Amino acid sequence: MVAVTAPTQPTPRRRVGASLPDFPWDSLAGAKARASAHPDGIVDLSVGTPVDATPEVVAQALRSAANAPGYPQTHGTAPLREAVSAWFARRRGVPALDPDGVLATIGSKELVAWLPFQLGLGEGDVVAHPSVAYPTYDVGARLARATPVGADTVEELDAAWDAGARIRLLWLNSPSNPTGAVRTVAELAAVVAWARAHDVVVASDECYAELGWDEAHDVTRGGLVPSVLDPRVCDRDHTGLLVAYSTSKQSNLAGYRAAFVAGDVALVRELLELRKQSGMIVPWPVQVALQAAVSDDEHVALQRERYRARREVVRTALRGAGFRVDHSGAGLYLWSTREEPCRTTVDLLAERGILAAPGDFYGTPGAQHVRIALTATDERIAQVPARLADLG
Ligand SMILES: Cc1ncc(COP(=O)(O)O)c(C=O)c1O
Repeated sequence: MVAVTAPTQPTPRRRVGASLPDFPWDSLAGAKARASAHPDGIVDLSVGTPVDATPEVVAQALRSAANAPGYPQTHGTAPLREAVSAWFARRRGVPALDPDGVLATIGSKELVAWLPFQLGLGEGDVVAHPSVAYPTYDVGARLARATPVGADTVEELDAAWDAGARIRLLWLNSPSNPTGAVRTVAELAAVVAWARAHDVVVASDECYAELGWDEAHDVTRGGLVPSVLDPRVCDRDHTGLLVAYSTSKQSNLAGYRAAFVAGDVALVRELLELRKQSGMIVPWPVQVALQAAVSDDEHVALQRERYRARREVVRTALRGAGFRVDHSGAGLYLWSTREEPCRTTVDLLAERGILAAPGDFYGTPGAQHVRIALTATDERIAQVPARLADLG
């Protein structure tokens, strides 16, 4: 029998959540109540949750796979991974992505939150992410007990490195949530070169890539949102590079949790091993639906045009009301400012029945912006100009 000596002073259990920031949306309750009191109801532009119906081609695929008595493959089926590889070639300018380097994920938020841990990062390691960012990059670093740091440029990465930050993972997010900024091929290439020189894994979250508006990024005008796996960025070498992609936004599938990560085959194998052992498996019907979603461009084109029309209505109304809209060349948000504290702007909008997300949710540099989402129905969006008319 193994003798176990009980410690005299048991260590208290660590509550993991204590290391996480407060859930920011709780601080919006007052503004939400005010906006909801509007006689014609709230126009909620504070969250990026899709509101249009799931496309029939995807829903039909899900239904067709309803009989699922056995366990699904953690990796994703071969046809699914081949469909993702074909999507990269057809839509993203990334030829010859090895289907072995594709892995299905249960939406991409879980990947963002757990990637640092799954890559073996821990105390003393640093996760760099955009300085104004989707909050889950920070959360993921903390879950692994690593340290999150905001850095956008090679100069900022150099400065952090020189100050002793052991950066092991670097998140990119282009098009950005919340700013809608898009990284150019040259910018991506510079960051990838820096990461390679410092042996840092690059994870690029590209879930708004199909929603480009500026000429350079609009697929309907021959534009493209560049991927970190684009040969012009990485010189056809995917080593150390991962792309996180989600169909939540482009295909109105947030409720399905249908996403994938792709890139470096060795890194994907490492993640696969861990995810197999821990049951992080995309359900079989969702794998079938995800395959249908990435294989059909028509429904994405339709949804893109819905958002384009909504974007025009809201952007025109905001400008007419004295807002400046920064970046926002792609994606589902208008990064808007009246050059005043963001909570003042949130209140001003709430009084007019519109709820926006304050920029300080996404980092201190966002403190004078609000993020206005385009994810509301045409009927709600049509209310925006009249509600802002008195500010013009
Ligand atoms: C930048 C970014 N990454 C990841 C996600 C997560 O998407 P999902 O978990 O629905 O795939 C979101 C959702 O808003 C996002 O904005």
